[in-house]
Amino acid sequence: MDKILIEGQKPLSGSVKISGAKNAVLPIMTAALMAKGKSVITRVPDLRDTKTMIRLMEIVGAKCTFDSGRLEIDGSTVNNPEAPYDLVKTMRASFYVLGPLLARFGTVKVSLPGGCAWGPRPVDFHLKGLEKLGAKITLESGYILAEAKRLKGTEISFEFPSVGATGNIAMAAVTAEGRTIIINAACEPEIVQLCEYLNDMGANINGIGTMRLVIDGVDSLHSADVDIIPDRIEAGTFLTAGALLGEITLEDIIPQHLDLVLLKLREAGCRILTTTNSVTISPADSIQPVDMTTAVYPGFPTDLQAQWVALMSLAKGSSMITDTVYHDRFSHVPELNRFGANIKLENNTAFVPGVNELIGAPVMSTDIRASASLIVAGLAAKGTTEVSRIYHIDRGYEQIEEKFRSLGANIQRKNSSA
Ligand code: EPZ
Repeated sequence: MDKILIEGQKPLSGSVKISGAKNAVLPIMTAALMAKGKSVITRVPDLRDTKTMIRLMEIVGAKCTFDSGRLEIDGSTVNNPEAPYDLVKTMRASFYVLGPLLARFGTVKVSLPGGCAWGPRPVDFHLKGLEKLGAKITLESGYILAEAKRLKGTEISFEFPSVGATGNIAMAAVTAEGRTIIINAACEPEIVQLCEYLNDMGANINGIGTMRLVIDGVDSLHSADVDIIPDRIEAGTFLTAGALLGEITLEDIIPQHLDLVLLKLREAGCRILTTTNSVTISPADSIQPVDMTTAVYPGFPTDLQAQWVALMSLAKGSSMITDTVYHDRFSHVPELNRFGANIKLENNTAFVPGVNELIGAPVMSTDIRASASLIVAGLAAKGTTEVSRIYHIDRGYEQIEEKFRSLGANIQRKNSSA
């Protein structure tokens, strides 16, 4: 299995271009299945997850060509509304095909996603929403079978503004009969872009970017092209490394997607300069401890919680970091403690004392963002760090070691048969 080797404490400088957002392109790819035509999606990051989703598109019958960030999806040949377990178990986002295929074919079979490194991650909001739209849902040996001649618009509310459920239900509702209102909808930029894309395909969604989506059903959608928004989570990951190791600039990003992250970095003592499409961060003389609680957008994203814990591990004082979105998303903590971070966990809060120095060590990735936090810690630690199971990082970060190397880091990928 490949590993990443890091010689830490090399100063960073220069600029890096951020890739397109994984969590925008995945649902947009499934939306393209609703059109009998060719959609062109640009700024698609070359990730394990985008490749997995392309495989799923082809399994359901779409024709895909992907080259240097440009993805063509021809939905006219889609004929097999089924997402198999061996694929869904590797990527939960495969569940996004449920709404689109049900809307287009009136029947769909999708494997229930399993859990993940940090918890069960249920899909009850997705299923309850589809039932409210008139679908008959049954569970057969780990597969969800959904059937509906034509979905009928209604009012749907989520107990929690779920990103995935908002995307799935919005895609199911755009060709339902009549009006659907989604209350407590997610407002993440990735869901905003999905809804804008659906409207470009001929849908009629109002309230985009608010927690109340009003969707008036149309007869059908046509194909459309889209340029994917930059990945705010990749950008936030690089910013935490810049906060520790040197002045760097992130190009081609949307700074306002990171408002709260930039505010917290300023509180930690970093200097931040923004233009319309870039952010430059200069590290603090010493990182100040800053408590943080994750929240749905525009709050501090849970996908940057692990990276924030890594940064606070080197603060001049103790901080408390609470995850309110996933209460058990802390598999990175025991690994960060191998660097000497001495973090204590209590329920969904990490108590980070802040130490003077982290010492490089062999550590193990457990999920996409935990691995990112281990890389950030390894870059800041004294000595050598070896990160194993880096297939996790390859799911969500495009050429991460090349990008960090271009900024001055001593980071290599070691292919090992072991
Ligand atoms: C999306 O996952 C992202 N994935 C996750 O990013 C991200 O962490 C998450 O949103 C939160 O922002 C993609 O976009 C592909 P949710 P999703 O439904 O849609 C509970 C990454 O690293 N819930 O908003 O699965 C759930 O348990 C990944 O890129 C239910 O209870 O997240 C959680 O506590 C990791 N029932 C909360 O809602 C449901 O039916 C938020 O989950 C659905 C969700």
